Amino acid sequence: MDKFIIEPNRNLSGDIHVSGAKNAILPAMAACLLAPGKSILHNVPDLIDLKTMAHLLRVIGARIEYENGIMSIDSKDVCYPEAPYELVSKMRASIYVLGPLLARLGKARVSFPGGCAIGTRPVDLHLKAMEALGAKINIDHGYINAQTEGLTGADIHFEKSSVGATINALMAAVLAHGTTNLYNAAMEPEVDSTIDILNKMGAKISGKSTTTLCIKGVDDLFPVQMDMIPDRIEAGTFLIAAALSTQPVRVCNCTADHLTALLDKLRESGCELEIESNKIRLYPAKRIKTTNILTLPYPGFPTDLQAQFTVLMSLADGISYVEDTIFPDRFMHVAELNRLQADITMQRNIACIKGVKKLNGAEVMATDLRASAALVLAGMVAEGSTTVSRIYHIDRGYDKIEQKLNSIGAKIRREKG
Ligand code: UD1
Repeated sequence: MDKFIIEPNRNLSGDIHVSGAKNAILPAMAACLLAPGKSILHNVPDLIDLKTMAHLLRVIGARIEYENGIMSIDSKDVCYPEAPYELVSKMRASIYVLGPLLARLGKARVSFPGGCAIGTRPVDLHLKAMEALGAKINIDHGYINAQTEGLTGADIHFEKSSVGATINALMAAVLAHGTTNLYNAAMEPEVDSTIDILNKMGAKISGKSTTTLCIKGVDDLFPVQMDMIPDRIEAGTFLIAAALSTQPVRVCNCTADHLTALLDKLRESGCELEIESNKIRLYPAKRIKTTNILTLPYPGFPTDLQAQFTVLMSLADGISYVEDTIFPDRFMHVAELNRLQADITMQRNIACIKGVKKLNGAEVMATDLRASAALVLAGMVAEGSTTVSRIYHIDRGYDKIEQKLNSIGAKIRREKG
């Protein structure tokens, strides 16, 4: 298993470039199942999770090619409606094929996603939405079996805001007979991006960027070409790296409007920001001020940046609190950060962070995608050498993160193992 050996350098400077958004590309790939023929996605990074989704779509019968950030997906011969355990257990977002397979083939058999390092993650809202649209669902031997004679539009009220369930419901409803209304739908940019690709394919979805979406079912969808949006979580991770630096850094190819909650918190912590079209230049604070974080559905502070922001606060001037309301158990990074001599205590889903003067390098272990990014950021500022093992987690969602960070002055070496 590969590991990162990180030597400290707080003098980062220059430009760093953000890739396409993994969490927008995954549903876009699944959406291609709905439009028989060859769709082409641009701005697609080389990520393990996207390879896993490509593998899954191939199992289902799609043909996929990928070169230089361009992915083509030919879904003409889709015929095998199954997402097997070995792929779903690698990546929960495999559940995104459920809605498209039901809509296109009238049946789907998807392995039930198991536990995950950031806590229990049920899929009940996905299943309720499919049932509301007329699917019959039963669970046997660890598989979700879904079947329908034809989906029919329905009113669906989500009890909780869920990115995944909103997207799955959208992808099922676009080919249903009649009109579907989704209430308390998620508003994340990745949901908007899915609406954009589906509408480009010929779907009729209105209400984008609100919590109420209306989908008028159509008979057919057609293949498209689409540019994928920049990854707001990768951009946010780089901005936090910049905030830990002593020199200004410019994060390029990002959408500031998707990062408002983070930018507000960076300003509160003393950073100055200059925003110009799709670039953000960050001037770090002389002394990092404390600020509290509460993760919430978009446009609130993203849970996917909670671990990275905790690193910033661990070097702030005083005490701060970070509360995760989306995934209350998502604090595996805390024990690892304390190995680097951060001073963080947990009370339920709230981390109490006492700022320390410095972190000290040590061996730590990545536990999930965003926690790994946090450990890399911590290693970049900790005194002495830090080794982050199990970095396959980071390769799931960050394209060549060490090369990108090294291009602005970080000292990260990948050791193959
Ligand atoms: C997506 C993102 C993930 C991000 C999360 C929250 C992808 C591939 N992943 O995950 O990186 O951290 O949004 O922004 O895009 N819930 C239920 N029942 C369900 C579904 C969800 O109770 O059927 C709960 C979850 O446990 C969680 C909350 O709803 O507490 C929000 O989860 P959701 O938005 O669905 O997250 P994902 O789509 O899985």
